[in-house]
Amino acid sequence: MKPLIVALDVETEKEALSIVRATKKFVDVFKIGPGLVLRYGPSMIKKIRSAGRKVFLDLKFHDIPSTVARSVKEAGKWGVFSATVHISAGERALREAASLRGRPEIWGVTVLTSLSEQDLLMLGIHPSPLEQVMRLGGIAKKCELNGIVASVGETLSLRNLLGKGIKIITPGIRLPENSKEDQTRTSTPQHARISGADFFVVGRPIIEAKDPKWVAELMLKDWHKAPKQ
Ligand code: C5P
Repeated sequence: MKPLIVALDVETEKEALSIVRATKKFVDVFKIGPGLVLRYGPSMIKKIRSAGRKVFLDLKFHDIPSTVARSVKEAGKWGVFSATVHISAGERALREAASLRGRPEIWGVTVLTSLSEQDLLMLGIHPSPLEQVMRLGGIAKKCELNGIVASVGETLSLRNLLGKGIKIITPGIRLPENSKEDQTRTSTPQHARISGADFFVVGRPIIEAKDPKWVAELMLKDWHKAPKQ
């Protein structure tokens, strides 16, 4: 499967499908979030699947175990390839979701990259963000999640800690010539691969480009410049 995931962070189905059409040669999985899902429901997912591509449903479920498990089960009925769950929902929620038969891949969210060390302290979380990511990564592996969403800065340490049996999905990816927008720490596709990522997620550099297909191709080429891990 191709490692580039395009985040369809746009307002309308029309815009989303035009990006799918433009970039699908270089992309097998498209990410959709609450905006498109709340506006269009499962029809958006059906259309991406009819284009022969997979859907990463990024709704970041975080609730009591039965609700998390039911959410993952329903996402599975929509035919998504993967769905995100906050690892901080706890072991019981993760295990209950992971034990569902015929479920989509479950990708665990560690610490949101928008949270600083100070924000974590305010929440009563004393380890540094990196220590907390490592702790949550260990829980994700123990509960047999399929993947972890983490920044490239955390990927090498996670890979060393967890070994090969779990996927790492990294957002915050830019080519050296791209602007960073609101991402504080960014890395190139090549660096993501060297650090041990399996997939990288790109939104604005592709969806706001004059020629999304061209940027998707450049991103994928940059990934392949890294030696195979
Ligand atoms: O536009 P950009 O490439 O920054 O988009 C990255 C995508 O990855 C967005 O959909 C964003 O919500 C998501 N994401 C992120 N950082 C995380 C988790 C998800 O940027 N830690």
